[in-house]
Amino acid sequence: MASLLLSLVGFLVLSCGAIAESDFVLEETELLGLFDVMASLVDEPGWAQVHPEPCTNTPWPGIECQIGQDPPNFHVTAIHIGPDVASPPCHPSAMISDSLLKLPYLKSLSIFNCFVTSTVVLSPTLFGSLSSLEHLSLQSNPSLAGEVPPSLGNLSKLRVLTLSQNNLQGNIPGELGGLVNLEQLDLSYNNLSGQIPQELERLASLAILDLSSNELEGVVPFGLGQLHLLQKLDLCSNRLHGKIAPELGKLNRLVLLDLSHNSINGPLPETLSGLEQIQFLTFDSNPINSLIPLFLGSLTSLTSISFSSCGLTGPIPDLSSLNNLTALSLDNNSLRGTIPSNLGSLPNLDQLNLSHNKLTGELPLSQGFINRLGERLDVRGNDGLCTSHRLASNISTYLQTRTCLGKQGMSDNVTCPQQQQQPQQSYDLKGNNKRTSSFAPSQHPTPHFIGVHQVGETRQGCREKERWHLQSVVEVYKRMRSDPMQRVIGSQVLEASWEK
Ligand SMILES: *[C@@H]1O[C@H](CO)[C@@H](O)[C@H](O)[C@H]1NC(C)=O
Ligand SMILES: *[C@@H]1O[C@H](CO)[C@@H](O)[C@H](O)[C@H]1NC(C)=O
Ligand SMILES: *[C@@H]1O[C@H](CO)[C@@H](O)[C@H](O)[C@H]1NC(C)=O
Ligand SMILES: *[C@@H]1O[C@H](CO)[C@@H](O)[C@H](O)[C@H]1NC(C)=O
Ligand SMILES: *[C@@H]1O[C@H](CO)[C@@H](O)[C@H](O)[C@H]1NC(C)=O
Ligand SMILES: *[C@@H]1O[C@H](CO)[C@@H](O)[C@H](O)[C@H]1NC(C)=O
Ligand SMILES: *[C@@H]1O[C@H](CO)[C@@H](O)[C@H](O)[C@H]1NC(C)=O
Repeated sequence: MASLLLSLVGFLVLSCGAIAESDFVLEETELLGLFDVMASLVDEPGWAQVHPEPCTNTPWPGIECQIGQDPPNFHVTAIHIGPDVASPPCHPSAMISDSLLKLPYLKSLSIFNCFVTSTVVLSPTLFGSLSSLEHLSLQSNPSLAGEVPPSLGNLSKLRVLTLSQNNLQGNIPGELGGLVNLEQLDLSYNNLSGQIPQELERLASLAILDLSSNELEGVVPFGLGQLHLLQKLDLCSNRLHGKIAPELGKLNRLVLLDLSHNSINGPLPETLSGLEQIQFLTFDSNPINSLIPLFLGSLTSLTSISFSSCGLTGPIPDLSSLNNLTALSLDNNSLRGTIPSNLGSLPNLDQLNLSHNKLTGELPLSQGFINRLGERLDVRGNDGLCTSHRLASNISTYLQTRTCLGKQGMSDNVTCPQQQQQPQQSYDLKGNNKRTSSFAPSQHPTPHFIGVHQVGETRQGCREKERWHLQSVVEVYKRMRSDPMQRVIGSQVLEASWEK
């Protein structure tokens, strides 16, 4: 709506001159084209009668117009259909009319939650020809099926392409690599299969790539490491396998990397230490089956680390430099050794799940830390772990461990009852990546980037976990809502956004 208002302001300013209001019109071909498009979408046969002058006297909230030059006529520049636009609702057999071609100035087309009952497919000839489009979002349309047409790769002005939460299938066409101006590509929550095309490495402007919750196979293409502006890479809940290519460590603007719920193997390449801006690192449910890489402790932008169910072995490395860390999930692995006491000194740590590992020794966390986290601290299922007498009287159920026998203190040779002697029990981490750090007063960081979808459907996936980790970013959501480029539809869909 903002641009319509701006256009009207421009219009009023102009009309102070000699030009009369009636001189600005929508050309008849465009007007009739718009009527066709609306008639095929909305459930109101009389839409054209109610909105005979949609750019001026009888506007509709989902349509934006701008005044062109020479001649200074109105043009339809944006059409938006979705639950945030009031009545009329979409027609039960809504479809996309070829008359869109009569709107040659259309820059933005977004249709949310409209194709619900009768099947709609993306016509290759139509969509390959909408050459003025900069923003195409067809989202949350359960009956939008068929394939992603390769001809979309012709829309060279496209900056945003969102086809998420539909029922699309088939491969991701390599032709999309031709969209050199694309900043956001979101194909998440469909039924897309095959490999991630190598050609995506040509999307040199890309900041957001979200292919999560599909059926994609193969390895993560090493060429994605060339996308040097990438801030969000979300490939979770697919069938990706193999190792992470060292080239991905070149993504030094990356803020979010989510590869959870795939079949990716470790060890992770040391080059990932180049992810200097990374805040959200999520690998849950992959057979990584290796040590936790030591470089993790040097990625000081991290706010959330999640490696649940990754078959991780060995000790928890030194993470004492991660002053911004708020959430650490290492549950359901085979981690051994003692819990580093400096975890309890991380000033912003607010969620810590170390449950179901093989950790041993006394829980070296202070009463203050334990009280602060409450039920967000979980150390269950570590048979060799014990708590000192000091804590024994006041602990959450997630802290239920045996009381240590013998002397008390933070040393790692406290005897725990029935503690199994682990073969690799004593790790000396003191020489590894040791840093001194002075902790700032506790203050929750507000991530300056977020790319989360809150999906109001029952499909299982990585989102549950992501939401759990990102519950502190409500403020960011609010800011996104006020950004007209990033339309947010109710609380149902939160589009990815990044700070300009
Ligand atoms: C559009 O894309 C298709 C498939 O990629 C291609 O065959 C066709 O030549 C392109 N058309 C134009 C006008 O570029
Ligand atoms: C997903 O696509 C495959 C074919 O690629 C098909 O067999 C399967 O039924 C589809 N699943 C859903 C839920 O539509
Ligand atoms: C930690 O968070 C603060 C506040 O959000 C931010 O200013 C700072 O740059 C962050 N530190 C790192 C290393 O990212
Ligand atoms: C724990 O991890 C294993 C794989 O290491 C997995 O099979 C199992 O489902 C996970 N359990 C839970 C509760 O997530
Ligand atoms: C910790 O992770 C386990 C799964 O490994 C999960 O069942 C449990 O609910 C988590 N604890 C908390 C406090 O979220
Ligand atoms: C016991 O724990 C609760 C929160 O879990 C805290 O409010 C209370 O102060 C604690 N009591 C003592 C004696 O530490
Ligand atoms: C056990 O801890 C004490 C200090 O608490 C230390 O002096 C001693 O050397 C430790 N023993 C072993 C075997 O690590």
